Amino acid sequence: MLRLYCYNFRMPPKHPLAIPRKPQGIVTRGKTARNRLRQVDNFLLLYEPSLIARRDSSLFVDLGYGAEAFTTLETAMRFRKLNPDLKILGVEIEPERVAAGLPFADERTFFRLGGFNLPIEPGETVRAIRTFNVLRQYNEAEVLPAWEQMAHYVQPGGLMIEGTSNPTGAIWAANLLRRVETGWHKEALVFFTNFHQGFDPLEFQTILPKNYIHRVTPGEKIFDFFSAWKAAAAETSPLQTWGLRQWFAGTAEALSRRGYTINLRRKWLSKGWLIWENPETEPHPGLVKV
Ligand SMILES: C[S@@+](CC[C@H](N)C(=O)[O-])C[C@H]1O[C@@H](n2cnc3c(N)ncnc32)[C@H](O)[C@@H]1O
Repeated sequence: MLRLYCYNFRMPPKHPLAIPRKPQGIVTRGKTARNRLRQVDNFLLLYEPSLIARRDSSLFVDLGYGAEAFTTLETAMRFRKLNPDLKILGVEIEPERVAAGLPFADERTFFRLGGFNLPIEPGETVRAIRTFNVLRQYNEAEVLPAWEQMAHYVQPGGLMIEGTSNPTGAIWAANLLRRVETGWHKEALVFFTNFHQGFDPLEFQTILPKNYIHRVTPGEKIFDFFSAWKAAAAETSPLQTWGLRQWFAGTAEALSRRGYTINLRRKWLSKGWLIWENPETEPHPGLVKV
């Protein structure tokens, strides 16, 4: 009788996060460096301080922090100047790397084994995800499914910054994705340089996020964008007399005249950030505004 009863009785589903799941993804090289993501942290602090400062209990997730937990711990230190209670979760798919982080865990800093299906616990929510130098080691076809998977955990209005840098973080490029009702909106493609290597738009081509790096070919928007940026650099090259930062800002203005939506605020350009807004919805990228 009891068996029959159990069989027919529809058990309420368990909380999906309570089910132990195999981390989604693959173990990749764990190379990282101290302060590598400093300018990614600074970017977020300047771009949307309220996202970090908000005093709810939602997590900031650093997915794929690498062989050592430097970047997660440094982010915790920087963001907690604004929000001392901010909870930070470092996620790694490789158990020894989780073990390397655990001695630094405390009541606000967590290190857990997991993958794109984030290891968050019932009741936890996520305000933002940073995942840097992770998807570059995957195939291009794996990028969208990974993004979609991560979208499940992020609060409406939350952000994901997913990008690639050189080994020191002196130059990087990142997708900035906003969680909207239907999934992610590609809010911007962000480029950063500290100018230590000079300035050449070509340099960014080598550190593009995975969804773009193989697409700098004729017929692709990203190809047109780099052609326009290189032309803009040639056209504004006399500005080099005033320094690399002036030249960089000049190229941003020239891109804008060509119809690209570039954030022209000095606070970005003077510090080496070029923010191309709505990169997927540019209506007439070749257009030169008069
Ligand atoms: C090159 S390290 C990047 C470290 C750090 N984010 C940085 O930029 O310096 C990439 C790390 O991502 C981890 N990883 C790869 N896929 C992952 C996934 N699906 N979930 C969690 N970690 C992942 C790898 O194990 C590796 O340690």
